[in-house]
Parts: sequence; C-alpha cells; structure tokens
Amino acid sequence: MSPDWAATASLTAVLEVQDAARRFGEVQALDGVSFAAGAGEAVGLLGPNGSGKSTLIRCIVTLERLDSGSILVDGADVAAQPARARQSLGYAGQEFALDKVLTGRELLRFTAGIVHLPRPEIAARVDEMLGRLDLLGAADRRIEGYSGGMKRRLDLAASLLHRPALLILDEPSSGLDLEARRRLWSFLRDLRRDGTTLLVATHDFEEADVLCDRLLLMSAGRVTASGSPQLLRNALGSFVLGASLHEHPQEGDTTRLEQLFHGIPGRPLPPDARRAELDWVLPAGVGEHDVQAFIARAQERAHALGMPLFSLVLRKPTLEDVYRAAVRGLGHG
Ligand SMILES: Nc1ncnc2c1ncn2[C@@H]1O[C@H](COP(=O)(O)OP(=O)(O)O)[C@@H](O)[C@H]1O
Ligand SMILES: [Mg+2]
Repeated sequence: MSPDWAATASLTAVLEVQDAARRFGEVQALDGVSFAAGAGEAVGLLGPNGSGKSTLIRCIVTLERLDSGSILVDGADVAAQPARARQSLGYAGQEFALDKVLTGRELLRFTAGIVHLPRPEIAARVDEMLGRLDLLGAADRRIEGYSGGMKRRLDLAASLLHRPALLILDEPSSGLDLEARRRLWSFLRDLRRDGTTLLVATHDFEEADVLCDRLLLMSAGRVTASGSPQLLRNALGSFVLGASLHEHPQEGDTTRLEQLFHGIPGRPLPPDARRAELDWVLPAGVGEHDVQAFIARAQERAHALGMPLFSLVLRKPTLEDVYRAAVRGLGHG
C-alpha cells in the first residue's frame, strides 16, 4: 500500500476500509483493499469492468458483505452496525430502480420518510434538493416521463436528503451527454467543497481527473496504484513519446516500433490494441533538451531502418497512460 492513505486513516476518517476481501465462486472480486477517506475528500476508484469497484461499493453501502476485513463509515462498522452506517452515507448506484408511477416530489417525500427526516422538515428539504438538482419544473410530473439525466439527478437528490457525510456514486455520469456530465461534476464539486466526502467509481479518465483529489487504480480486486491525478501522472514519467507507422493499428507494428527507442531511456506502455502508437515513457528528470535529442535519434533510426513514420508525438503523461501502466489487461468498459 502507498503511505498516503495511512496519514488520513486516523482521527477524521469518514470511511476506513481495511483488507477488504470478497470472493464469488472462482472470482476473487476483492483481494485485500485498504484505504481511508477524510472529510471533504473526493476519492475515485478507477478501473476496468470486473476490477471490483461495484463489489467494494456494495459492501460499503451494506448491500453485500465482506468475507474478511472491515469497513467503517463515520466510525460505524458496516457489518456490526449497518443501520448506523447507512445513516451516514448516501448511495447512487449503477442501476437505479425509481418507482415510475410516482412524481419526483412524491418519491423524494417517500424517501425522506424512510431515512427518518423529521416530518416538519420534509417539504422544505425536498424542495431544496429539487431546486439544487434542477428538477423543480418537473417535480409534479411522473418519473416515467423523465429523461435519463433527470432520473439520475432525482436518484442523487434522494441519496442526499438526509445530508450524509459520505456520498458514494457508482459510475455517476454513464449515459449522460457532455453538458449533463459537466453540470453533474460541478454539482459534486460544490458538495465536496461544503464538506461531503465523495467515493466515485468510474472508468472515465476525465471524470476521475476533474472530480477526484485521490485515485485508487483497481485491477483484479486490488489497488495497483494510488495518489492524486497529478502525482500519478508525474510519477509515471516526464514525457511520453508516441510513434506510429500507420493511422490505424496493424499487426507487428509495435514490435517494429520498439527498435526506434533502443538506447533511449524509459519503457514502453503495454500495447493497446485500439491504438496505432507505441508509447514510450521517458523517466522523471528528463529535460526538454534531452527530449529533443531523443526525438532526433528516433527519427534517424526510423530513416536508417527504412521505417517511414506516420506520426511521432511528444506529450505529457495522461491519466490514461497511468491507467495503462498500472492495470493489467486493459478492459473496454
Ligand atoms: N453477485 C455476484 N455473483 C457472482 N459474481 C459477481 C457478483 N458480483 C460481482 N461478481 C464478479 O466479481 C468481479 C468484480 O465485479 P464488479 O465489482 O461488478 O466490478 P466492476 O464494478 O469494477 O466492473 C467480476 O468478475 C464480477 O463478475
Ligand atoms: Mg461496476
């Protein structure tokens, strides 16, 4: 484990996960996950389909149990005190089942009763959340007529009614268009600024980058890297030099391209079948001046080897590069 979670684990942790393990038959869905999240922190779980994000989340929100390990939500152990843990958390899942015959307002009032909001507060709190999520105009229409984005916002409003210290979101922006995603992210950033802790599972690099202070990269039920998006990018290397021989990926190109980088410090990113580039990561500490020399060297080699380049591009490492380096067998989800 990286040391950064330990520093936040004591005193102010809103969420503490220790050695969480869960198996389904042959599949070790969670294989010893530990981390903590402090007040107002936004933590992202970034990983391909099947890496264990939803299982971890479902264990935290008490819909699933761990085989071993422990989870504390605001100090309450989810196995021993599930009701107390639920009081401190809000959850908007990957699939939501909203009762379609109700109106948005009815659903929120009903939910407010379930989460034990004091009766005299309910009407005002429901209106407040409808307003904050841009749903006042549709409040008295049946949910069956809502768009996907509206249903998602209603689900979010419902999960926030009882003002939880921890909000957990499983792929919150999947199925939303760019504009709706941006608005959702801005809402969530405001929420975090006001002190709510966020745990967000995603496989969207932009979402992870925009929303999260800290990321846990997950692969096969384990955390394979963690840190702030910026730290993870910087830790990967100084620059990435991407070279391709064709516009689209072609059999054997990667092997041929590796020859270009002989003698240049660094290492290749694991190949991605969807990309034509071989991406060569230059180590930390390599300066602009060295980089220019490496580019010239790669070009000379391409010429000497009779390998006409389609592209040779220099860029800073992205979160996607980090993810490719950290996650074995890139998923497509
Ligand atoms: N209820 C279940 N029964 C059997 N296998 C499951 C169940 N839930 C999850 N899994 C398996 O556990 C692994 C992790 O799944 P999941 O946590 O949903 O991953 P993610 O959310 O990262 O896509 C997958 O291999 C999945 O098929
Ligand atoms: Mg999932």
